[in-house]
Amino acid sequence: ATTLGASAAEKGRYFGAAIAAPKLGDTTYSAILKREFTSVTPENEMKWDATEPSRGTFNYTAGDRIVAQAQANGQKVRGHTLAWHSQMPAWAQALSGSALRSAMLNHVTQVATHYKGKIYAWDVVNEAFADDGRGSRRNSSLQQTGNDWIEAAFRAARAADPAAKLCYNDYSTDGVNAKSTAVYNMVADFKARGVPIDCVGFQSHLTNNAPSDYQANLQRFANLGVDVQITELDIAGSGQAAAYATVTRACLAVSRCTGITVWGIRDSDSWRTGTNPLLFDAGGAKKAAYTSVLDALNAG
Ligand code: G3I
Repeated sequence: ATTLGASAAEKGRYFGAAIAAPKLGDTTYSAILKREFTSVTPENEMKWDATEPSRGTFNYTAGDRIVAQAQANGQKVRGHTLAWHSQMPAWAQALSGSALRSAMLNHVTQVATHYKGKIYAWDVVNEAFADDGRGSRRNSSLQQTGNDWIEAAFRAARAADPAAKLCYNDYSTDGVNAKSTAVYNMVADFKARGVPIDCVGFQSHLTNNAPSDYQANLQRFANLGVDVQITELDIAGSGQAAAYATVTRACLAVSRCTGITVWGIRDSDSWRTGTNPLLFDAGGAKKAAYTSVLDALNAG
């Protein structure tokens, strides 16, 4: 096929992009979004600070706009993210212990209930493991409410929206390493104990290449009985076109890899300012990386 989404669909996958509500009025941006992508992730609009700016006061306006647009375009929606140590509103940052635990579980329940039936997959918990090379949990205020905070969030999300796939999402987990193995062990434990989890998100913020064991890492998680999703792909550096092909082929080679999401549409939309890590340039033109992905999707 001639678009990312259509070519991915021919292989049973979605191809998505993170989007920003303020840019939906940009005609170039919206045209690419509608033409190329079959899934969207709100880049910021469903985070805790955006949806519950003050305790018990919920604001879904921007998230609702993105969901409505996606539904009009026949696109899936990946919800991002119900429980994350970052972008917590100030009132939640001031909480700890059982007060924070109950506020977090209420947040998960309220937001997942609001979007019930409209979310293909939720990043229920984001970035709960540390970067210490030992696979430790991140020592956040959420972690300090008790080691079981992650499973509590997953149970609350399942209760609120049984139809949504529930994902654990993280970065620097793109190869076999201490951090990805800690995530792997958590997922294995959850599956063994019947804790509801359906997928693992690999953010895949890369530079120049993917780890040589990228596909093997995805496969070992799939072998646990969960879907794997590439959730925030962007690739900086001169090797980006080849690396995008490698990542695309890895997803196609792992049957439970259900789709790829790039973290933005144009280079100018990227959080990685100045590194030009996406598939379209600032003017909305297709880059070599775009062609590399399309060719990989269409191959074989
Ligand atoms: O909306 C406000 C605006 O009103 C204000 O004028 C402006 C300046 O203060 O800030 C705007 O909010 C910013 C927001 O992006 C929207 O642009 C926040 O400051 C800024 O922190 C926020 O950054 C986002 C970041 O997550 C933190 O939430 C990035 O856009 C977003 O790409 C990035 O995405 C994360 C994923 O959620 C999780 N994985 C890592 C990834 C990259 O950091």
